Amino acid sequence: MSMFNDIERVLVSEQELRDRIAALADEMNALYSDDDPPILVCILKGAFMFLADLTRQVSFRHELDFMEISSYGKGTKSSGIVRILLDLASSVEGRHVVIVEDIVDTGHTLDYILRNFAARKPASVRVATLLNKPSRREVDVPVHFVGFEVPDEFVMGYGLDYAEQYRNVPYIGVLKPEVYREAPEN
Ligand code: IMP
Repeated sequence: MSMFNDIERVLVSEQELRDRIAALADEMNALYSDDDPPILVCILKGAFMFLADLTRQVSFRHELDFMEISSYGKGTKSSGIVRILLDLASSVEGRHVVIVEDIVDTGHTLDYILRNFAARKPASVRVATLLNKPSRREVDVPVHFVGFEVPDEFVMGYGLDYAEQYRNVPYIGVLKPEVYREAPEN
């Protein structure tokens, strides 16, 4: 059966994503210039699609780099344990950095990333997150560019997975409850 049958409803449509990302790019265009260009750091895997759209919408010169951070395994809950699976290829010392995240939930992952970046002595660090779930926050973390605030529900699509699936769904959605119930590990 098609994976689309697993989806209960659409939370953020393709059109809404396009419009909002164009607006976020405008906010960034007002802050960054070719004279002192930033590095956009994509947090893998969830932010890959957001990064791909954002990088094509901003008009300033910039470099891209990638960092992969461990997720929750197959479940939907945060363990609070964060590991770097893939580190940056470039040095960010003295550079402006924009961290590009898919979603800030409890904030543990971003808190870890920000502390890790601070040690690398960048000129500045700002955070762009496509989605924000403020109701779930356990650690206070700064987010400078937010696409959408979402309710306390597990969301998927547009890069975000459930058990490594659904990343290719072109919008943000919520799965049917039986999809989680049937999962062996959760
Ligand atoms: P945090 O550490 O709890 O803030 O979680 C951050 C990471 O958990 C995100 O970068 C996502 O990879 C993952 N995550 C949190 N909530 C969701 C969700 O609703 N759907 C998919 N992934 C999520």
